[in-house]
Amino acid sequence: MSNGIFITFEGPDGAGKSTIIDLVANQLHDALLTREPGGIEIAEQIRKVILDKENTLMDPRTEALLYAAARRQHLIEKVKPALAAGRIVLCDRFVDSSLAYQGHARGLGMDEVFTINQFAIENLMPELTIYFDIEPEVGLKRINKNKDREINRLDLEDLAFHQKVREGYEILMNRFPDRMKRVDASGSIEEVLKRTLQIVEEKLAEK
Ligand code: TYD
Repeated sequence: MSNGIFITFEGPDGAGKSTIIDLVANQLHDALLTREPGGIEIAEQIRKVILDKENTLMDPRTEALLYAAARRQHLIEKVKPALAAGRIVLCDRFVDSSLAYQGHARGLGMDEVFTINQFAIENLMPELTIYFDIEPEVGLKRINKNKDREINRLDLEDLAFHQKVREGYEILMNRFPDRMKRVDASGSIEEVLKRTLQIVEEKLAEK
């Protein structure tokens, strides 16, 4: 369907995902680095509604549908055209975030959340997903240290929620062992970057 390669990055908050992905993108020729909502105006507007701390009444299913809607728009406007042009697309979070956060941690059910996402993505799954694994306690500590980072509605959830998120990712790791590769994110940036690049380069070599 496309000539490019679609790689996604997942993990709990505070795993250092964004830092590592920036560094990975710098090492690859002509990679598109993006994250949902990816600067796509419609998706940005949807995301504001999702993450607004005032929206305390938001129903979990509404949250899941809004993420899927923002995902759809980002996919159509940004990801698909880049793949069609043969580029490497590196995306910070994708469907697995919804499965872990909304499906498992919020308790909506991973299969149910996958069904609404399938409507949004029409089978366009990543070829490789790198999962940055870290103890939720360590991740949350890192977030609190980073004063520049804006605290959003999901960051305000308690430790038990973040533990459920991790459990969700573990379920996904077991379910999709070919697509998903784990990287221990507790090490130094250099270590995590080295391991990540190794996995990405192995995948690119297969093409
Ligand atoms: P994001 O803006 O990617 O922040 P981070 O820097 O933590 O990766 O995501 C914001 C929050 O939204 C984050 O707590 C994860 C959550 N999220 C979901 O619950 N479901 C989703 O489908 C996505 C994409 C993110």
